[in-house]
Amino acid sequence: MELITARTSAIALLLLLSLAVLCNEGVHGRHHHHTKHTKHNSAHNHPPAHAPGPRHGPPRPRPYSPPAPPPSSAPAPAPGPDDDGADNVTVYDVVKDFGAVGDGVADDTDAIKTAWDTACQDAGSGVVLAAAGHTFLVRTTVFTGPCQGSVAIQVDGTIVAPGDPDTWPASSKRNWLVFYQAHGVALRGMGMIDGKGHKWWDLPCKPHKGGGSSHGGLCDSPVAMRFFMSNNVSVHGLKVQNSPEFHFRFDQCRGVAVSDLSITSPADSPNTDGIHVENTQDVHITNTLVSNGDDCVSIGAGTRNVHIENVTCGPGGHGISIGSLGKAGSRACVANITVRDAVIRRSDNGVRIKTWQGGSGSVSAVAFQNVRMDAVRNPIIIDQYYCLSHSCENSTTAVLVSGVTYAGIRGTYDVRSPPIHFGCSDAVPCTNITLADVELLPAEGQRVDDPFCWNVYGNATTPTVPPMDCLIEGVPRHGAEDDTSLKCY
Ligand SMILES: *[C@@H]1O[C@H](CO)[C@@H](O)[C@H](O)[C@H]1NC(C)=O
Ligand SMILES: *[C@@H]1O[C@H](CO)[C@@H](O)[C@H](O)[C@H]1NC(C)=O
Ligand SMILES: *[C@@H]1O[C@H](CO)[C@@H](O)[C@H](O)[C@H]1NC(C)=O
Ligand SMILES: *[C@@H]1O[C@H](CO)[C@@H](O)[C@H](O)[C@H]1NC(C)=O
Ligand SMILES: *[C@@H]1O[C@H](CO)[C@@H](O)[C@H](O)[C@H]1NC(C)=O
Ligand SMILES: *[C@@H]1O[C@H](CO)[C@@H](O)[C@H](O)[C@H]1NC(C)=O
Ligand SMILES: *[C@@H]1O[C@H](CO)[C@@H](O)[C@H](O)[C@H]1NC(C)=O
Repeated sequence: MELITARTSAIALLLLLSLAVLCNEGVHGRHHHHTKHTKHNSAHNHPPAHAPGPRHGPPRPRPYSPPAPPPSSAPAPAPGPDDDGADNVTVYDVVKDFGAVGDGVADDTDAIKTAWDTACQDAGSGVVLAAAGHTFLVRTTVFTGPCQGSVAIQVDGTIVAPGDPDTWPASSKRNWLVFYQAHGVALRGMGMIDGKGHKWWDLPCKPHKGGGSSHGGLCDSPVAMRFFMSNNVSVHGLKVQNSPEFHFRFDQCRGVAVSDLSITSPADSPNTDGIHVENTQDVHITNTLVSNGDDCVSIGAGTRNVHIENVTCGPGGHGISIGSLGKAGSRACVANITVRDAVIRRSDNGVRIKTWQGGSGSVSAVAFQNVRMDAVRNPIIIDQYYCLSHSCENSTTAVLVSGVTYAGIRGTYDVRSPPIHFGCSDAVPCTNITLADVELLPAEGQRVDDPFCWNVYGNATTPTVPPMDCLIEGVPRHGAEDDTSLKCY
């Protein structure tokens, strides 16, 4: 993303907690008729009627539960004695079992939240179903774990956010749907999650509306789907569109699998990163399309072991980005990031690493392999002078960028910028940057700029197009090896 950096996790947690409290307050006295859950048997409805679950023991109406209700408050669904275990999955259908209306107008927040809480308290496998043919209006909500068993949320219908910023609680403007400590949760389906971001993008405080920056919080806008402190989570198959801000944010997670998503928002929608990851390890993002107004995938501080494969970015957007890192003297460590078999179309950047002056830590072991560029403005870029104001001070420290390989980067670039730009720090040069099989041609017109290099050490192991004459061979005389501020691991 361009404009908002990560808050500290402490602040994030505080926000979340206040958000959770607010959610609960918001629904007291207005929960609707869970009592009318009656038994029903419907052909398309898993599981078979003998399965344990709400059909045998429909949740009683009860006070809206706190985010982590004690298990004893669970409406203990007794497994049927004839349960042969052939299908142990209990379906929690938000319409049939929890009274959701699904017309896109009525507020279905309580229904889906209660379905989650009920599934979460079941020790078996549960599927919260938002069925096809319905549109569920859902307000800002925290789905809290850990759960007793495993829970999937199957969205085959459409989930929409309230579109009007004025109706959002002031204290939870930074998140829409949050999964908190929801270890093992799977979010999947053939449906759509629509953040209804248009009115947020048009707020006068947004930078592109002349409103300066969104640092002050005045212009905070919700991330559509946030996974916070949740391990082994997966997101598969959904369409997600028009988030007010990032579409997905994973922070402080271990084990993230994202696949077969389609993420779209307009090219001029501000800060609508597709998938943002920070302080998170072991991430796989595959077979996904992102067309949006900011980074396709953005990787923030504290992230390791990310594999991105077969992702298509654009048209529009800012490409795949590591950073920004090291803002306001902060320490950032990012390592072991692979991007392969990607396509980047008509984006401002292709594969980018961006750091602020003045930080510490390092970015290391990064590989960009087999990336096709289609009329991209800065296909290959390292920018260690990232700066949003016009007055960033020169600094004697920086986040080290080392061990980056570009292999098989081919296609076309927009001639308004050089196809390759390595702007490395005066204080801490980039080292061990290697290129092989790089071939970038003008999308139209003539090549105007040669590759740009500043303080970059490395090697092209095959001839490149355009020729890469500006790399410094070898290693800097004063290596970073002894500088402990740059050491991460
Ligand atoms: C069904 O669930 C029970 C208890 O949760 C478990 O012991 C059993 O192995 C499960 N059977 C199958 C086929 O998954
Ligand atoms: C993720 O799941 C695997 C397999 O079930 C398990 O071994 C691992 O401990 C889990 N990781 C975390 C961080 O919970
Ligand atoms: C790549 O991802 C697209 C969807 O974005 C999918 O249709 C295609 O089959 C994937 N290709 C491979 C080789 O997995
Ligand atoms: C690098 O990340 C990949 C996952 O993308 C993982 O399989 C591999 O073990 C990691 N390597 C190291 C050295 O941690
Ligand atoms: C920072 O350094 C660059 C190059 O060394 C120089 O051109 C620029 O004027 C300096 N900026 C400031 C604010 O000192
Ligand atoms: C250079 O970077 C590559 C790829 O990240 C890594 O395998 C290699 O060990 C690095 N070499 C040195 C001398 O650090
Ligand atoms: C650069 O690459 C060439 C070809 O692989 C190799 O012969 C040479 O030793 C490399 N130079 C450095 C400084 O790594």
